[in-house]
Amino acid sequence: MRKPFVAGNWKMNTNGHTSVDLADRLASGSVESAGHTVTVAVFPPFVYLQAVGKALNGSSITIGAQDVYFEQDGAFTGEISVSMLKDIGCNYCLCGHSERRHVIGEKDELINKKVTAAINGGLLPILCVGELLEERKASQTNEVVTRQVKEGLAGLNDEKLAAVTIAYEPVWAIGTGLTATPQQAQEVHDFIRKLIGQMYNERLAQEIRILYGGSAKPGNAADLMSQEDVDGLLVGGASLKADDFLAIIQAAV
Ligand code: PGA
Repeated sequence: MRKPFVAGNWKMNTNGHTSVDLADRLASGSVESAGHTVTVAVFPPFVYLQAVGKALNGSSITIGAQDVYFEQDGAFTGEISVSMLKDIGCNYCLCGHSERRHVIGEKDELINKKVTAAINGGLLPILCVGELLEERKASQTNEVVTRQVKEGLAGLNDEKLAAVTIAYEPVWAIGTGLTATPQQAQEVHDFIRKLIGQMYNERLAQEIRILYGGSAKPGNAADLMSQEDVDGLLVGGASLKADDFLAIIQAAV
């Protein structure tokens, strides 16, 4: 019922040449048949979004931004608005990625404003949540994820929730080579889906897509996505290699 979703977060990688080269390789990869059954999006750095979008034009792969600001326009030096992203063909944006939470210092309240502004402006947000290693060790995973989901989605009605995708990314698994086991991922995904059921209703809980992220790669993609509540993957490192990312897309078909 839920269409699988494979997202590639390029983070602060690539340059003008390699971003387009990677996009070209993805566009000419065998994802066309996959495009109907799997949602595929890549999230290049802001400055390469247009060039990557152009290279992917005519393919079934869409583009998204790694972040967005919540104000519409004005004196916000360095920030990028929802309408700017829409203007250049973005469909998605990440909100509250763990590196923005833990390296840049974004808090739930700011992330909620970004999620809300994205939806109001017609951009589909992917709300990223996940616990730190010490939080997992202290058995606080559910508590942390509950706070991030509740505060991230605060004020959104049923209709607006329908625009949201959630990505569960345990911070200890991001970029570390340590992947959550399929069972660990399933446990938290199931918990998040039930939480959405309590906050909204059973229909929306069943409809919302929950992606797993954290050292996802071709070798573990199928196992992770075989879990009932894992609807796709948010891929960092492996999305920078066309062959790896294409293999992950194929695993989602
Ligand atoms: P990773 O990153 O796949 O390199 O662990 C995932 C992410 O941060 O979205």
